[in-house]
Amino acid sequence: MVYKFFLTIAFAALALIPPISALDLQSSTWIWTNEVSGGEAPAGNRAFRKDFVAPLGKTPVQADILLTVDNIFTFYVNGIEAGSGRGYNIGHLFCVAMSPCLNVFAVNATNEGPGSSPAGLVAAIQITYSDGTTTNIVTDTTWLYSTTVPSGFEQLSFDDSSWKPAIGEGAFGISPWGPTAQVIDAPTLSIANASWIWTNEVVGGNAPSGNRAFRRTYTPPPGQTPTSATIIISADDAYSLYVNGVLVGSGNSWGTAQTYSIGLAPAANYVFAVFAQNQGTTPNPAGLIAAIQINIAQCDCAAPVLFVTDGEWTSNTGTPAGFQLPGFDDSTWPAATIEGPFGISPWGNISVGGPGAANPIPGAPN
Ligand SMILES: *[C@@H]1O[C@H](CO)[C@@H](O)[C@H](O)[C@H]1NC(C)=O
Ligand SMILES: *[C@@H]1O[C@H](CO)[C@@H](O)[C@H](O)[C@H]1NC(C)=O
Ligand SMILES: *[C@@H]1O[C@H](CO)[C@@H](O)[C@H](O)[C@H]1NC(C)=O
Repeated sequence: MVYKFFLTIAFAALALIPPISALDLQSSTWIWTNEVSGGEAPAGNRAFRKDFVAPLGKTPVQADILLTVDNIFTFYVNGIEAGSGRGYNIGHLFCVAMSPCLNVFAVNATNEGPGSSPAGLVAAIQITYSDGTTTNIVTDTTWLYSTTVPSGFEQLSFDDSSWKPAIGEGAFGISPWGPTAQVIDAPTLSIANASWIWTNEVVGGNAPSGNRAFRRTYTPPPGQTPTSATIIISADDAYSLYVNGVLVGSGNSWGTAQTYSIGLAPAANYVFAVFAQNQGTTPNPAGLIAAIQINIAQCDCAAPVLFVTDGEWTSNTGTPAGFQLPGFDDSTWPAATIEGPFGISPWGNISVGGPGAANPIPGAPN
């Protein structure tokens, strides 16, 4: 595995974020199911799908998507979750690689209760072909809906032949939503979005001293090739960070998080593993916090992949041999325990600095 390491400072991460795409919703229609009556629909989850097959001779490379739902959504492309969001007045941007043949955009859209209220989905999708040309897809009555959200509804192989054409509620801009979803939420890397995590040993804010292991696996959607990552990380009291088994760096002062920018070699999975150390002789506060941005080669567009320390990380009350290696089986590890969001006591608003030490902390693998 070849990694290139670049020295960077915290703010260099901002330069990695590509410009916001020029997508807009001006040609899109708010859609929902046939349950809409008098501008309102029952509360609950509804499923929407839109198939896209490229015209003959064209190879789709990537899709930029601007989407929002009144009220909540989870958005999938070709069976893989691209992201989720809340709030009709925020346009959420996604960028994903396309498959050469069939592509499926799927939304699990929730109208929050109690009772009936306005419900809608609006989206604009720009597909870029390998020859540099583009085509646009918007929400309209060619999208399909289901009033239930069946398991696997987001998969390419799901049979949506019994689904019905979506009901158009009106062009983007109509009441009650207005033009507000042009406010674009392009997520940016920030450790302020991360949670402090540790093992399930934390009691009353304290954990036993010793070394603990944490892992988070990122699987890129088919066709996407991560090229680089930026990682902001801190631990109380010290950590060594590994990406696919390779030591990235170490830190031992939780008040200032370290920032690393690394190149990524092509791989099926990317495993972020942390050897974290709680020092001292009696139980005391222990925590790990990190925010990670992954840049995708084909997706030189609005939305990088971002994730943070949360309950999707796994934790181990020891540091089993080889835990940092990508092939290590952590399927029996419990989810990390979330201690609280960035800013909580006793750590407060920690600052962000440059990279940490190149050597592992005592006891951590090379
Ligand atoms: C759809 O979203 C709702 C609300 O987030 C969630 O409770 C439900 O499990 C989701 N359904 C599927 C099939 O993903
Ligand atoms: C993270 O926080 C920043 C502000 O600190 C915000 O602009 C950004 O959109 C957030 N990203 C996500 C993915 O929540
Ligand atoms: C941390 O930052 C937030 C937002 O900038 C601020 O409201 C809060 O008072 C700060 N907390 C401390 C302990 O400095």
